[in-house]
Amino acid sequence: MQLIDGKFIAKTIQNEIRTEVNTFVAQGSRPPHLVAILVGNDGASETYVSHKMKACKYVGFRSTNLTFPDTISEEALLAEVEACNQNSEIDGLIVQLPLPPHVDYMKVILAIRPDKDVDGFHPANVGKMVMGLPCLLPATPFGVMELLKRYKVETKGKNCVVIGRSLIVGTPMSILMSRRAVDGTAILCHRHTPEAERKLLTRNADIIIVAVGIPGFIKAEDVKEGAVVIDVGTTRVEDDTTLSGFRLKGDVDFEEVAPKCSMITPVPGGVGPMTVTMLLVNTLNAYKTRNVSLAVKTEALREN
Ligand code: GUN
Repeated sequence: MQLIDGKFIAKTIQNEIRTEVNTFVAQGSRPPHLVAILVGNDGASETYVSHKMKACKYVGFRSTNLTFPDTISEEALLAEVEACNQNSEIDGLIVQLPLPPHVDYMKVILAIRPDKDVDGFHPANVGKMVMGLPCLLPATPFGVMELLKRYKVETKGKNCVVIGRSLIVGTPMSILMSRRAVDGTAILCHRHTPEAERKLLTRNADIIIVAVGIPGFIKAEDVKEGAVVIDVGTTRVEDDTTLSGFRLKGDVDFEEVAPKCSMITPVPGGVGPMTVTMLLVNTLNAYKTRNVSLAVKTEALREN
């Protein structure tokens, strides 16, 4: 069994980005700028956004965290998004989800300019992804694809079962796995897939990608010998022995499942660090697209 070390791959990519940003800045350009909008004080969302801001700092990006109370009106939030859309000093914009129930999150996603939508949630980006056109890909599925690529996991003609059909992870994941050049046979299971059927599917899967948010959901009996298992789950569970008072648990019963796998991602240290890193990749790409002359300059540098 080989552990897929997302933490290591994430750091490698971040170092690549850092070098590129240093080059831009040395040439006199401003660094890429990511803005994260955070509404309310959900502990997990605060942690995710602070990881994103810290990663920006590491690679040399400018970052801004705009925080608002959970009483902010939908109208006021949409106005903040529009201000970011209009600001030419901002390359990437994310609105951390979930939003309070009185705000229609879909309206907010639709309000973000597609070329600044570094979460890849806007239908313009989703549509392009489905059509195999260049676009900003949602960070978590993008991160999983990068892990499969860097670990040389064979996907062509392989049975790939994705569990969970969220717009952020499961749905785009199943699309990406079946795309040209990946060529997997992707099956998407969700809450209405009968348990017995789901178990039959996962027991026949070469690659299992699980994103349901239920700790230990996948057991050894659900997995075929030699399968590749990607665990996207990150549920906070209380733990008095840690400084923060909690720890992260994945959707896979790691102790049971790992010995049966050819490769598996741990939680933490698997997919999580990749999500943050692919957000940086998207922000860098959005920046380059907005500054076409810069992109041309880098290509010229690479050729030399
Ligand atoms: N909430 C959970 N995951 C994400 C994510 O990838 N992006 C945003 N904006 N919110 C999230």
